[in-house]
Amino acid sequence: MTTVLVTGGAGFIGSNLVGLLRRERPEWTVVNLDKLTYAGNAESLADLRHDPKHVFVRGDIADADLVDHLLREHAVDAILNLAAESHVDRSILGPGIFVETNVSGTQVLLECARQAKVKRFVQVSTDEVYGSLGPAGKFTEESPLQPSSPYSASKAAADLLALAYARTYGMDVIVTRCSNNYGPYQFPEKLIPLMITNALEGRRLPVYGDGLQVRDWIHVVDHCRALLAALDRGKGGEVYNFGSDNEWPNLEIVQRLLELLGRGRELIEHVKDRPGHDRRYAIDASKARRELGWAPQVSFAQGLEQTVRWYQGNRGWWERVRSGEYRSWYERNYGAR
Ligand code: NAD
Ligand code: TYD
Repeated sequence: MTTVLVTGGAGFIGSNLVGLLRRERPEWTVVNLDKLTYAGNAESLADLRHDPKHVFVRGDIADADLVDHLLREHAVDAILNLAAESHVDRSILGPGIFVETNVSGTQVLLECARQAKVKRFVQVSTDEVYGSLGPAGKFTEESPLQPSSPYSASKAAADLLALAYARTYGMDVIVTRCSNNYGPYQFPEKLIPLMITNALEGRRLPVYGDGLQVRDWIHVVDHCRALLAALDRGKGGEVYNFGSDNEWPNLEIVQRLLELLGRGRELIEHVKDRPGHDRRYAIDASKARRELGWAPQVSFAQGLEQTVRWYQGNRGWWERVRSGEYRSWYERNYGAR
């Protein structure tokens, strides 16, 4: 029997991970701790509402008393920490909460895990901690940490704390760094869902600067499977990069999305560039392939088309996000309990 604590499980990657865990590890209990910030959407977990092995708890990873209580009450074996403020643009407008959640919150979780003797801690991080690449090369686990934005700086700080807990206290902590994810349930402020939903509403598609910035895209389920591989087979104190060898300039992605939606390029609008905008990310995931026996399975053509169809078929989900109605879903469904 295994009990895992997934934090941030009402977010994009977290809700996909919790779904995968319940499908593929049915004997495991998943305790899901999520603060339900603007990015958390309990509706993404609607299918698990009556699942006795999914325990949803609304709360903050920075709340030590709550975390300590949950770890002991449920005898948690392992933690997958996905809770975070995750949007670069928001971190430029207001960095404070990024330090509170991503840095202090992670430290609280690590400390509670240490006290409760949790067996394994997976810190879910990002390739953005490595900063920006020139036209050639890829990030390896040995690349220097050179974060550009308050978001990536806060994630780098959390990575270093996690590795410090491994070194100092001998805790079994693993850090994973993944490239840009896409797929169902992504909040429509990130590039791919923003462009799809804007196009579906006939709105303009705001491309920052020249749109030639390059991101390396991976399907969210491939990332979730990589996290399970790290949980199962990773070595404590190690860092693993995850990516799909799938680099594209933003403008090409936007054009492909418009083609899949049958819309014209006139919707594209070049807008002012993001300050400190990283030009290119590309990740070398050969260590994860070699040591974790993991490989991505979803091709970009297949994954992108499936994602577009998901947003077309789940219009209610993102319309309720856009209207703000999603924020009351939790109260409406759990409030009376
Ligand atoms: P998201 O913004 O969709 O979800 C974050 C979730 O964390 C939300 O449900 C939110 O309510 C919750 N949360 C925020 N603050 C919290 C707090 N203090 N306590 C408890 N819960 C809190 O983010 P995502 O895209 O799903 O990313 C998940 C993790 O993966 C993050 O740590 C992110 O840095 C990392 N990551 C994301 C990507 C990507 O492309 N999206 C790539 C690599 C790594
Ligand atoms: P984003 O989805 O915010 O992820 P990240 O900044 O963490 O990589 O952005 C992906 C790329 O798309 C990035 O180069 C910024 C660009 N972008 C736009 O051009 N327009 C937009 O409206 C958004 C949200 C992003």
